Amino acid sequence: MTTSRATAGVRLPADVPHPFSPAGRADPGPAYRWLRANDPVHYDPYSRMWWLTSHAACAAALREDRLSAARGQRERARDDALPPSMLTTDPPEHQRLRAPGQLLLGPAAIRELQDPLGTDVDALVDALPREADGVDALGAPFATAVFARLFGLPGADRPAFEALARAASVNLDPLAGPAVAAVGRAAMGELSRFLTAHARTVTEGPLARLAADTRLTERERTGILGLAVVGGWQPLAEAVGNALYWLLPRPDAVALLREGDADQARLLVQELLRLEAPIPFTARVAVEDVALPGGTVPRDGRVLIVIAAANRDPAVFEHPDDLMPGRGPNPQLAFGAGTHFCLAAQLVRTSLELLLTRLVRRHRGLTFAQPPGAPGWDPRPIPRRLLSCPVQTRSTDVR
Ligand code: HEM
Repeated sequence: MTTSRATAGVRLPADVPHPFSPAGRADPGPAYRWLRANDPVHYDPYSRMWWLTSHAACAAALREDRLSAARGQRERARDDALPPSMLTTDPPEHQRLRAPGQLLLGPAAIRELQDPLGTDVDALVDALPREADGVDALGAPFATAVFARLFGLPGADRPAFEALARAASVNLDPLAGPAVAAVGRAAMGELSRFLTAHARTVTEGPLARLAADTRLTERERTGILGLAVVGGWQPLAEAVGNALYWLLPRPDAVALLREGDADQARLLVQELLRLEAPIPFTARVAVEDVALPGGTVPRDGRVLIVIAAANRDPAVFEHPDDLMPGRGPNPQLAFGAGTHFCLAAQLVRTSLELLLTRLVRRHRGLTFAQPPGAPGWDPRPIPRRLLSCPVQTRSTDVR
């Protein structure tokens, strides 16, 4: 087996907690900083994976088809019940599954969704109680509204969908133990049955167009829908809390969102996604030796592309740990890059802009009810999420 000269034998210093240890899960920042500066293509004997932490290495790896996503997903720490999908296939099969997905998540779907979603968002921000959890009261119903509009779900089905999406989201965590994995498999089965039955009945909207497309079998179509829900529902819900964490302590950024134009909102959302990407890493396996900036991953090497570390790389981002609302260019990797670039990236950006803008316009005095981030971040690494996000509105806000 070839090893990289740049990485052989390099170890994290004893006083820097491993990102998967309890202390490292609470705050992986020190490990990411050390690895990025000292060994950006690093063999980690604990996880037996090659950890990529610089922007250059991660960006190259995401665009590298010799790093197989299919094998990266198959060789997760545990087996799971995700049906075959574009994320678990490599080119050329990947494109066959991805192309019809445009019918669900492409520009036409986004245009169609904007007005009805605006109505949902207005109802959500109007109903926000004086004190609430930003994820439970805003993020989760917002994510459900986005999917309900995409899938043409009637209002009465939204609670059932949300419960299934929440249960199936445990499949996101590659480190979950066998008991959780079994729950995840069962939830995925139920979600798939729900989505298959619903897709047979829907008559208009993005899902109806996908359902009418003959390029996919029904099972493949359900695979796309299941992937969208497992890969998207919770990350979208948690992205709201993560964004508030950075936004609310910064009155200048809030004012910009409230009074600025659409371009300023777009740059700000891009920056919020850079700082706290809900998907902090993704996995691949090298099908041959692959040279990357900073080192070579040997054939059969399992690779962890640490998006969260790349997005704070000082070689690319000035003041990487600070919110810079107008940052541009901003080549953040929150949605990945290359072949598997998030199919819903534009939808996510557009809908987050809509929610955050209307929220701060409606609630001028929105603040955290307790110091932002206390009690901190979920120790499970995926999705990157706050354990709670208590916000309060001002009594003088127009109701
Ligand atoms: C803030 C929310 C989201 C983030 C941060 C995010 C991030 C990502 C990332 C990093 C990837 C690439 C994974 C890899 O390369 O292995 C990805 C792929 C994907 N995402 Fe998202 N995502 C989000 C929301 C969504 C939503 C809401 C949907 C669907 C409605 C979605 C659908 C997909 C699909 C279908 C893929 C696979 C693309 C492919 O393999 O070609 N995502 N996402």
